[in-house]
Amino acid sequence: MVAPIDAVNQRSAPQPDSRLLKTVKLGAGSQYEKELHRIALAPLTRFRNAPETQAPTDLAVTYYQQRASPKGLLINEATFVSTEAGGYPTAPGIHSEEQVAAWKKVTDAVHAKGGYIYLQAWALGRANAGQDPKIETVAPSPIGLKDHPVPREMTIEDIDKFVKAYGTAAQNAKKAGFDGVELHGANGYLVNQFLESVSNKRTDEYGGDIQGRSKFLFRVLDALIDAFGQERVGVRLSPWGRFQDMLEDDPYATYIPVVQELVKRYPKFGYVHFVEPRNWTGAPETKYPKEGIVESNDPFRAIIRGIDISSYPTPSDYAQTNPTFEDPSAEKPTVIISAAGHDADNVEEFVARTGDVAAVGRYFISNPDLPERIFNGYPVRKYDRSTFYSPGPIGYIDQPTWKEEQAAKGVESAAVQP
Ligand SMILES: Cc1cc2nc3c(=O)[nH]c(=O)nc-3n(C[C@H](O)[C@H](O)[C@H](O)COP(=O)(O)O)c2cc1C
Repeated sequence: MVAPIDAVNQRSAPQPDSRLLKTVKLGAGSQYEKELHRIALAPLTRFRNAPETQAPTDLAVTYYQQRASPKGLLINEATFVSTEAGGYPTAPGIHSEEQVAAWKKVTDAVHAKGGYIYLQAWALGRANAGQDPKIETVAPSPIGLKDHPVPREMTIEDIDKFVKAYGTAAQNAKKAGFDGVELHGANGYLVNQFLESVSNKRTDEYGGDIQGRSKFLFRVLDALIDAFGQERVGVRLSPWGRFQDMLEDDPYATYIPVVQELVKRYPKFGYVHFVEPRNWTGAPETKYPKEGIVESNDPFRAIIRGIDISSYPTPSDYAQTNPTFEDPSAEKPTVIISAAGHDADNVEEFVARTGDVAAVGRYFISNPDLPERIFNGYPVRKYDRSTFYSPGPIGYIDQPTWKEEQAAKGVESAAVQP
């Protein structure tokens, strides 16, 4: 549904010298260097793929093409790396020739508009709701989610098989014309389940301390890098995420070593995509991190930008200084992408402080030309949750651009003229 006109708001365009209007380099100094503007499409599952093949349809070609813009990065919806990784019939895969061919149409359409598209590589682990009885639910540890099958603990053979599947998926993504691949390490799915002690109770080399718990993540990243090279691989992390029973007592203790290891191992890594902490106070059952912890991704930004924060008593103390950050450079090329809660009103200030690329989810659903609207100060339409996951074109490819809205108004006003 198109939001009613009273949901439309007014704002002024960013100042010409605004950081929001300055591009940033992805893969700076490498042969893959790309210039990106600051508004990316966040990965958004929309459940509109063909249930028989789990391939995107022509609707998806239109949907992504509508959201593409010159120098704009789109991260596609989470995409299963293998049949075993999945469990939702209308979520897509990248493990069959048919799927690769269907994604090629999407990537071609995006490139034709001067944009870029990364594939988000996905495996459900214990988040498999058991909709497909042929897919066994496996996870680092046999800890189930409410209304989900209790997972079988993954063996070393299972782990090896999944790592291989991620690598093959990345090769397929390359064949399908994706510009790179983002590992879905967030929101309580398989990689995230390995990382956090709430879901990983293993006693072997893939569990225990954070070195063990991050071993799966790094093996998978190595497999993706084999296909694309460091510069064209990203990872999404949600240190503050509570979705699907996640959240560590002290997320800094888990994620600081992960980010440190990441930049050490992969000095030319493409990007780290953080989900921002959000205000969850409305949910009384929500768990909170330990008292005194300031929820912020700034300590991670500092590590990526090479800023030493060890003189601060804790990462929270550093976060409270509300620091500003430089853009990536040839020396520290890793781009930081940030998602969750960005809108046309707050994104300029956020980018001015952090230097991140802002990935936007919900407002990009209802505004296919969102970057253009934000960069020009045009009004932005509110989204309609009821069509986030509904099948078919409604709420998917029927959202008007600003120009279409204006043209429609012109037609209407012409129609009422005497
Ligand atoms: C309909 C919908 C589908 C989503 N699907 C994914 C997904 O496939 N992968 C992912 O990492 N996050 C997914 N998310 C989370 C978004 O990428 C994003 O982090 C979240 O919407 C917050 O950003 P926003 O405030 O701009 O909407 C989804 C969110 C929504 C609303």
